Amino acid sequence: MFEHLTPQPADKILALMSAFREDPRGNKIDLGVGVYKDATGLTPIMRAIKTAEHRLWEQQTTKAYVGLAGDPAYGDAMIKLILADAVARDKIGAAATPGGTGAVRQAFELIQMASPKARVFVSNPTWPNHTAILGYLGIEIATYRYFDNETCGVDFDGMIEDLKTARKGDVILLHGCCHNPTGANLNPVEWQAVIDVLNATGAIPMIDIAYQGFGDGLEQDAAATRLVAANVPECLIAASCSKNFGIYRERTGLLMAVSQDAGQQALNQSTLAYLNRQNYSFPPDHGARLVTMILNDDALRADWAAELEAVRLSMLDLRQSLASELQRLTGSDRFSFLAQHRGMFSRLGTTPELVERLRAEHGIYMIGDSRMNIAGLNAETIPILAQAIVDVGV
Ligand code: LMR
Repeated sequence: MFEHLTPQPADKILALMSAFREDPRGNKIDLGVGVYKDATGLTPIMRAIKTAEHRLWEQQTTKAYVGLAGDPAYGDAMIKLILADAVARDKIGAAATPGGTGAVRQAFELIQMASPKARVFVSNPTWPNHTAILGYLGIEIATYRYFDNETCGVDFDGMIEDLKTARKGDVILLHGCCHNPTGANLNPVEWQAVIDVLNATGAIPMIDIAYQGFGDGLEQDAAATRLVAANVPECLIAASCSKNFGIYRERTGLLMAVSQDAGQQALNQSTLAYLNRQNYSFPPDHGARLVTMILNDDALRADWAAELEAVRLSMLDLRQSLASELQRLTGSDRFSFLAQHRGMFSRLGTTPELVERLRAEHGIYMIGDSRMNIAGLNAETIPILAQAIVDVGV
């Protein structure tokens, strides 16, 4: 049997991670995988996570199974964090998943189950694993224009024109905040226009929200997701705690199925539980339990929110410093978009050839489509990157 296996395409983010590891150069700079790093290059365990883990170790008396959808208290806490009171709780089905990717995968499976002919529209570009999983499941992919390489902002007219081609029952995958890989985001007026198109076409939104708190703040970053969820008949929301709680390896995510028809909730809820059972049975509990403890304890929550805010501000600071250094070197505002982008990533809008030259000649690793992880920078490496960008002629 095994002789029939063929090598599968490498994930470009993970391939870059190993290429970086193998590069012997001491001055190499990693702007690849989306993992937050502080100024010393460390991905810290957040203070509130450490405290919650300590408490859990002291208080937890069993490791017996919890429930197919995870602990309902986790679902409740996450729904509050993401949706606040935008949608009544009895209209939301929710299940814990192994990370945000698990939520995305379960969402696609639910789509396939409920609407086998649906096409899923993804932004061009989107997170590569979106299209990889859709392709693996055999779901038809359509793309909508999103990033304008000239302005390094959103090609909003192109986006709307493409979304208008969606048919009733198609799914439109949107990034709730901090668009990955571009860093370019819609403003509130544009979000409203997207909702109008969704309602005019009958297409269903699926929101991937993996960076709440990394862009403009915890509440601000959830605003678009809340607006969409409150103003369409149904939607899917895939959320990740990997980044904003810094618990990447704990695999902590949540999938929500929101329906304005309250009569639908029980079926949605049991379908999410069923899908978990088929794929991995019970979702991981450790990270979800820590998140629940933090969100339900005033002091822990305040400490977590403060640390997350410091992370957000440090990335904003890096963005601004890089934009001003490039302004100084080039004497132009060509790179001012870097300060306007939000979240962990920015897309430079340059060619794979120049990205390769940055790697080969300067030891700077970014994804081939010119996505940089801004958190991979620090005060020392910003001038080095800026000079390299100018040297290779981006
Ligand atoms: C990324 O985009 O780099 C992260 O979401 C990590 C991953 O799994 O790709």
